Amino acid sequence: MAERPEEHPAAPPICSYEGSRYSTEFWTQARSYEDAVERVALKAMLPPSGGTLLEIGAGFGRLAELYTGYDTVVLLDFAHTQLAQAVARLGEGSSDGNPRFIYVQANFYHLPFVAGRFDAVTMIRTLHHATDAPAVLRGVSDVLGPAGTFILEFASKRNLKAVARYLLRRQPWSPFDPEPVEFVDLNFDFHPRWMWEQLARVGLRRDGVRTVSHFRIGALKRLVPTRILVGLDAAAQVTGPLWQLSPSVFVRSVAAADKPVPTEGSFFACPACGAALGAPPETQFHCECGHKWAQKDGIYDFRYPEP
Ligand SMILES: C[S@@+](CC[C@H](N)C(=O)[O-])C[C@H]1O[C@@H](n2cnc3c(N)ncnc32)[C@H](O)[C@@H]1O
Repeated sequence: MAERPEEHPAAPPICSYEGSRYSTEFWTQARSYEDAVERVALKAMLPPSGGTLLEIGAGFGRLAELYTGYDTVVLLDFAHTQLAQAVARLGEGSSDGNPRFIYVQANFYHLPFVAGRFDAVTMIRTLHHATDAPAVLRGVSDVLGPAGTFILEFASKRNLKAVARYLLRRQPWSPFDPEPVEFVDLNFDFHPRWMWEQLARVGLRRDGVRTVSHFRIGALKRLVPTRILVGLDAAAQVTGPLWQLSPSVFVRSVAAADKPVPTEGSFFACPACGAALGAPPETQFHCECGHKWAQKDGIYDFRYPEP
């Protein structure tokens, strides 16, 4: 459902998962193949350990188990109900070998963090909800620290099924046109070449590509055991740097090594004015610009300021 803050009528609309049954209705047994191959790609591309990791559009924290090598993991989503499920599943985490989890309700166009704060950022199945993907990528580049890693999954418009449908005149848009296509309200497919250009524009250097979900075909998934399809997909994923014809693409890019290192201490920044917010309070941040941001039931809310 599209949501737009009343006080910001010009702001890009948001594809809200508030109240949705995404974890149980989308991630059914029928998608165990997609879940498994995405884990294969993420595990292969993400540095196994580090200090701070941010997942943007984390939903209910489906992939959080892959972040156990990080000290602090921030799960960010617009939807409170998604994060509440993540809190129930993962809790606060602990400092004795497991990550400490921080839950943040925010809009990916206004990330509430100090510049350069993260060693790694991931964004899986989320950028396709952005009407202004370049703006989101600018924010990602901003919060990444020196030589920080960004793992992005995006829905590719130049996939075999779209090519066949286009050639058979069963689809009006061309999979070869580099511009994003909004095939359903607030759902975009991107051309890999367009995405490479956007990453370069925000100063991120592409250093790895995996093509994912080559066998996302209902009949195949029903007939062939999932573990065999996953093995075949894992083998096909490594052809990613050569060609991209799968519906899902994972790309790893890296921030410049000479970016300024953020000063110790500050973590959150006010999404309204950008000022660093200092140590997290019990219930509410008070920014010097006058905005207040609440923390309730373990979730920081940076979507709309407190009255
Ligand atoms: C398809 S789900 C992906 C969840 C998770 N990454 C996964 O792969 O299971 C997309 C998520 O993006 C979130 N989202 C959509 N627009 C957003 C925005 N403007 N800011 C933050 N999160 C957003 C939705 O609430 C939803 O939880």
